Amino acid sequence: MSDFFSPCCKIGLAPMAGAGDSGFRRICREWGADYTVTEMISAKAVRYGAEKSALLARHTPAEEPVLVQLFGRDPVDISFAASYLSTHFRPAGIDINMGCPAPKIFNNREGSALLREPALAAGLVRAAKKNCFCPVSVKMRIGIDSPDPGIIDFAREMECAGASFITVHGRTRAQFYSGKADYTMIANIKKALRIPVIANGDVTDGRSARQILDETGADGLMLARGALGAPYVFWQIKETLSGLPCRSFSLEERFAICLKHLCFTIEDKGEERACLEFRKHLLWYLKGIPGAAAYKVKAGQIRCKADCEALLHQIILAEKK
Ligand SMILES: Cc1cc2nc3c(=O)[nH]c(=O)nc-3n(C[C@H](O)[C@H](O)[C@H](O)COP(=O)(O)O)c2cc1C
Repeated sequence: MSDFFSPCCKIGLAPMAGAGDSGFRRICREWGADYTVTEMISAKAVRYGAEKSALLARHTPAEEPVLVQLFGRDPVDISFAASYLSTHFRPAGIDINMGCPAPKIFNNREGSALLREPALAAGLVRAAKKNCFCPVSVKMRIGIDSPDPGIIDFAREMECAGASFITVHGRTRAQFYSGKADYTMIANIKKALRIPVIANGDVTDGRSARQILDETGADGLMLARGALGAPYVFWQIKETLSGLPCRSFSLEERFAICLKHLCFTIEDKGEERACLEFRKHLLWYLKGIPGAAAYKVKAGQIRCKADCEALLHQIILAEKK
């Protein structure tokens, strides 16, 4: 994956289970994300033939480069899933989840629980690489209960096992998504590794993007929540990083982006399912709009594209009064 990271810093869309589907990845790529990552996929489910899980790896050329993210703790599951998905879906890479804090995953000793088992985690990287036709990377946190100085050795072990790059979310498992990401810990990991390190946590605009790169020295950054309802944030970040004034987006522009995002989701899932699943995205697009409470009820009821168009039109008219 070395050429994946040249010649300049990359800005990726982080994996988001339940939100980072094909439609969202596509709209983020359109607005400047350099690469995207699928929702996490259970390696075990893929190995035992759960078609629904494998289909999470499906993507359109417009989302590429796409990394397929796997979670699991069994090297045989990981090896099978990495080989199967890389053969069938030709992603730019396979990413292994070593950061998920959710009890369902953690209590299964998967996701961030792997930070406790460096030898097993390194074995997962080797297993993924065995029959896989693309680079393998790792996404991790900085510790379980508290920031862990031993995490540097953990990251080194992933490098030795053959990880092509590592993404570090600067929080512990205990923090879930609260508190502030610790950029010093990410910087320490970056200093210790030869492979690229991608910094993640709390980037929401150009200023915070500049800050995470300056404070960590990372080779790139990845953002998740900052892109929800605002896929154009990638564009704004790139403008800021290249020293240009950051342009703001009018309500009309934001809603046009929202509708395009819905169209991409409809292309992927069909109108009925897309509209049901799009309701949460619509709420993110409405964040900060005066009188949003009343609109939110309607947003939670859209059943077709026309419902969404009518709601957005109503809001634009109300804003102009
Ligand atoms: C709704 C949601 C779903 C997420 N799903 C995943 C996932 O499937 N795999 C993963 O590695 N991280 C997942 N994350 C974590 C993000 O990728 C990211 O590491 C975290 O949100 C910190 O970045 P941010 O501050 O830019 O949001 C998820 C986060 C959110 C908010």
